[in-house]
Amino acid sequence: MKLVSALDVGTSKVVALVGEVDTYGDLHIIGMGEAPARGIDRGHVTRLDLAVTSVLRAVKEAQEIAGVKLSNLVLGISGASIKSQNERDTMSISSQPVEIDYSHIERLIDRAVMRSREEGYQVLSAIPRKFVLDEQEGIIDPVGLLGSKISAEVHVVKVGASLLKNVEKMVLNAGMEIWKKFLSPLASAEAVLTPEEKEEGALLIDMGAGLTAFVVFSEGATLVTGCVPMGGLNITKDIAHFMKINSEQAEKIKVENGYALAEEVNESERIKIRPRGEEKEVTVSRKQLAEVIQIRLEEIMERLTGLLNSQGVDLNTLHAGIVLTGGSAKLAGIKDFLERYFDLPVRIGYPTGVIGLREKVQDPAYATAVGLVRLASKSLSLDRRSPNLLQEKKVESSVNLSLILSKLKSFLKDIM
Ligand SMILES: Nc1ncnc2c1ncn2[C@@H]1O[C@H](COP(=O)(O)OP(=O)(O)OP(=O)(O)O)[C@@H](O)[C@H]1O
Ligand SMILES: [Mg+2]
Repeated sequence: MKLVSALDVGTSKVVALVGEVDTYGDLHIIGMGEAPARGIDRGHVTRLDLAVTSVLRAVKEAQEIAGVKLSNLVLGISGASIKSQNERDTMSISSQPVEIDYSHIERLIDRAVMRSREEGYQVLSAIPRKFVLDEQEGIIDPVGLLGSKISAEVHVVKVGASLLKNVEKMVLNAGMEIWKKFLSPLASAEAVLTPEEKEEGALLIDMGAGLTAFVVFSEGATLVTGCVPMGGLNITKDIAHFMKINSEQAEKIKVENGYALAEEVNESERIKIRPRGEEKEVTVSRKQLAEVIQIRLEEIMERLTGLLNSQGVDLNTLHAGIVLTGGSAKLAGIKDFLERYFDLPVRIGYPTGVIGLREKVQDPAYATAVGLVRLASKSLSLDRRSPNLLQEKKVESSVNLSLILSKLKSFLKDIM
């Protein structure tokens, strides 16, 4: 039995999960803790002491339930500064075909990371998408094959350097060590997407409270990663403003009566609210509430589409459609809204692939946390030589890359 633990630091909540990997490789969730996020905003630490306290609360609860101490954890990283690029590169190896080994791939990854360096940003991951060997396209794993020239497309994800440093500091100040860092939307994708969806092409959207992060998969690998710095909290604030009520009331109204598609709400439906300064409750139209919600959703999706367009993504090639997860996926009518907005099939993504505490974690709001423990467990099964360490190597120069690269083959199959 091996233990893995993960921390998802969201805008609304901090979640700590403890998992146990049994001898068959199955992952059992044995502890879970949650605390309201304070001093954290859209992936950033805004007040260190409050953020550390939130983390400690979540971790304490998870530890008590699991009966073990959390020390070395996997951390999710998200934020508006996330951006990705695909670096294509060709390297001549020899005039005669020779056997391709991991060092060739390592060099290609290194070059992609070097080229994508940017001041104020840190590379969080560099994942080869596909290879071309001489003129042969569509090579998934070139190691062991013969060739004289190799090309690769490497998906590089970067994040603001100070965001990363401050989130790391928060975890260290809470007395824990970080084993690995993963991009939060990639973790969510791990928890909710099927390998077939990744292969056929899918857009994963994790819509939380402050962030709407996304990953596009095509041909089984990540194509574009990004984030819109808006989420369910913006909707709540709009409702509060429009109805002249406080955020707490607005949140309750959104959850209990909210709907994402105004045209599907009947004119006659009324809901009761008590606006500021009013003695008595008044009734307002539920259709109007849905309009307020829909306007903000349209703005978020417009920005998301803009980011996808700027990266050249053709939504029509995403045959598996859209998978929506994150707490805001629970908004009534959001599946219909997205289907109409994008004219693509949409499903709500519930985290899968874990045993234990199932009823509790099978909630879109826990997709990132579940995905993080799943990635941690996968990394364990790769004998701690996971390619994600490979990604970290690019940043931290702390691991033996050749050992890691020896696992590249399983990585390409398993992680993506
Ligand atoms: N039933 C519901 N209907 C509508 N919205 C909901 C419902 N349940 C939760 N939400 C919304 O989900 C959001 C929280 O989602 P989630 O827990 O995924 O966010 P987070 O991970 O804390 O934040 P982020 O990932 O954006 O930093 C809140 O804005 C909340 O209002
Ligand atoms: Mg989140």
